[in-house]
Amino acid sequence: MKVFRNKVAAITGAGSGMGRCLAIQLAQEGCHVAISDCNEAGLAETAAQVARHAPGVTVTTHIVDVADRAAVHAWADDVAAAHGRVNLIFNNAGVALSSTVDGMQYDDLDWIIGINFWGVVHGTKAFLPHLKASGEGHIVNTSSVFGLFAQPGMGAYNASKYAVRGFTESLRQELDLMDCGVSATTVHPGGIKTNIARASRVSPSVNGLLVRDAQQGREEFEKFFITTPEKAAGIILDGVRANKRRVLVGPDAYAADAMARLLPAAYQSLVVRETRRKRKALMPDGTPAAASEGERA
Ligand SMILES: NC(=O)c1ccc[n+]([C@@H]2O[C@H](COP(=O)([O-])OP(=O)(O)OC[C@H]3O[C@@H](n4cnc5c(N)ncnc54)[C@H](O)[C@@H]3O)[C@@H](O)[C@H]2O)c1
Repeated sequence: MKVFRNKVAAITGAGSGMGRCLAIQLAQEGCHVAISDCNEAGLAETAAQVARHAPGVTVTTHIVDVADRAAVHAWADDVAAAHGRVNLIFNNAGVALSSTVDGMQYDDLDWIIGINFWGVVHGTKAFLPHLKASGEGHIVNTSSVFGLFAQPGMGAYNASKYAVRGFTESLRQELDLMDCGVSATTVHPGGIKTNIARASRVSPSVNGLLVRDAQQGREEFEKFFITTPEKAAGIILDGVRANKRRVLVGPDAYAADAMARLLPAAYQSLVVRETRRKRKALMPDGTPAAASEGERA
């Protein structure tokens, strides 16, 4: 899709981070936006910022939990009715979980897969008929660098983001074959300066193995956030304009992609070695925190 002016874009997780920046930048290009989030205050702030930056566009807001299939389908129908059509869906809402597989609670696994994977599936299936009906549509599904390579403590997040990648790459090929006027892109951001680490769940199982405690784990996570969400949104929109199958966001995403291609299995020993080195630097005296001192945010 070369031009966003006068199109209609739906965005999940628009109450913060990249979702908010996508809404503002699309609106600045004259695209009407239907924004949703489960966080009411964040969503209202995004709506206010869109109105300030782009007073001429139509903005609709809906409180939607993307893990709720019926709610996402109802939202898609409401958006099509309110705006008259829908051209783009950005399945952007996401959460993070830091936990070993051994110490993982099924509740946490259901939570993250429900949002990161099922949320993307719901958004794709609910909006696809409307995108087809519009004659010119695009589905933008957010995976991660953790959909390109795996890391210890990220098994559930890795699973959700690899799943988004496989789902969307297959979808894109089907849409190409259907020649139906709809396309799809998978987005793999590197570290982006957003609220994701602060909103993450951290299991006590990573204490001592990877980090000292949950707080220090979140701080370590944030050290890798090198790209602003504004820049990330610009890169994503350029990728949609160019009809790319895969969009890498940030220099770290290019480095991760190169590592996964050059060392598709052997990269794991590099990650383990680097994790051991960092753990020694963080905890020179060995395991400092008992597993029970961890926290679930
Ligand atoms: N920030 C990064 O470094 C990074 C890297 C790779 C991928 N990502 C992915 O980018 C996407 C956007 O994340 P972000 O970094 O802007 O984080 P963010 O925390 O700033 O924004 C995520 C938004 O999703 C919303 N959300 C959470 N659960 C939801 C639910 N059940 N239903 C609806 N909305 C929900 C939150 O309220 C929040 O507004 C996510 O899919 C994330 O996994 C982020």
